[in-house]
Amino acid sequence: MDFDVESVRAQFPALQQEVNGRPLIYLDSAATTQKPKAVIDAITHYYQCDNANVHRAAHALSSRATSAFEASRQLVADFLGSPDPAQVIWVRGVTEAVNLVAYSWGRSNLNAGDRVLVSTLEHHSDIVPWQLVCAERGAEVVAIPVSDEGVIDQAAYDELLDERVKMVAVNHVSNALGTVNPVKEMVAKAKAAGALCMVDGAQAVAHWPLDVIDLGCDFYAFSGHKLFGPTGVGALWGRRKLLEAMPPFFGGGEMIDRVSFDGTTFNTIPFKFEAGTPHIAGVIGLGAAVKWVQSLDRDAAAAHEAQLLAHCDELAQEIPGLRRLGPDTNRIGVFSFLLEGTHPEDLGTLLDQQGIAIRTGHHCAQPLMSRFDIPGSARASFSLYNTMADVEALFTGLRKVQELFA
Ligand code: ALA
Repeated sequence: MDFDVESVRAQFPALQQEVNGRPLIYLDSAATTQKPKAVIDAITHYYQCDNANVHRAAHALSSRATSAFEASRQLVADFLGSPDPAQVIWVRGVTEAVNLVAYSWGRSNLNAGDRVLVSTLEHHSDIVPWQLVCAERGAEVVAIPVSDEGVIDQAAYDELLDERVKMVAVNHVSNALGTVNPVKEMVAKAKAAGALCMVDGAQAVAHWPLDVIDLGCDFYAFSGHKLFGPTGVGALWGRRKLLEAMPPFFGGGEMIDRVSFDGTTFNTIPFKFEAGTPHIAGVIGLGAAVKWVQSLDRDAAAAHEAQLLAHCDELAQEIPGLRRLGPDTNRIGVFSFLLEGTHPEDLGTLLDQQGIAIRTGHHCAQPLMSRFDIPGSARASFSLYNTMADVEALFTGLRKVQELFA
């Protein structure tokens, strides 16, 4: 079945605008996706009709807010293939999820001499929390190298996996290059070596269906705003036994069972990890985003995205001095590149003047940029609402920039 991109685009109000006098060409979905009307409406409905705190009051609005809030948890559990919604913990996004696991699990389980392996492809959010906790515990963060193409070196990974390794942290898809990592195989290897594995799914969730049980990982995290949902909300999925054994990360209301000055006991999961009033509108908006994405033919959407990237790679070959980063295959959503004679930041500004939005810089992946000996790159990133015309506009824009510098 063909993917009807025009009817999908029509559901995104922000895409229907001009920027600098030109129709907006939005190629920055790896940073944040645009939001369909269904998500915007769900958030507005909550604030207009159901605004109340959750899990607390004995009144109609609170009861409606709680039902919508917990319905979102079920939607996200189904979306991830989790057998139990209690294994889904609301967080602000992947950054908070990694910090939660690093501090809560790490402080109780990492000891002097232990190792946490992280791939060189990781975002800073999947490096720095591990560094902080390892420094506290006398443990060590060790990088798994990547090839010149930006693919994790599996032989090096195999060699690093010894009895010192307690955790492997890897992203499903690299935000800087779009490399799709062989996560299922990497999880299996980590488990065989006696380590746990946490997967950062930030760049994967918008692109294909997930099944955390099939992946075999111990923790999986994603951010709502990269899945057509609101910013400031995301989900951490974890194995029940691990989550139950982990101490709370934040203390406060909701996460307790009983509080006294003699000592406090804690709530069951997921609430043990959800101190304070949560981002209720965000959670409801995220539920709407999941519902919206599940209503699409996801195979057709993935095929459409693959065509966009293939067209991009094809047109890139016609641009002299363009160096694409990342692998030729097993790459999704991202076209990361350098253009000879142009600084990525200037490129971003000049494309913006033509209504084309890309991201430039180190993409919060400085170790990866150092690996390639570059300060940063220009990155166009695609989502299911982009068109072939968007891809062509990018290359027309690049040619214009080249003419300016010629
Ligand atoms: N992590 C986001 C990106 O890659 C912000 O752009």
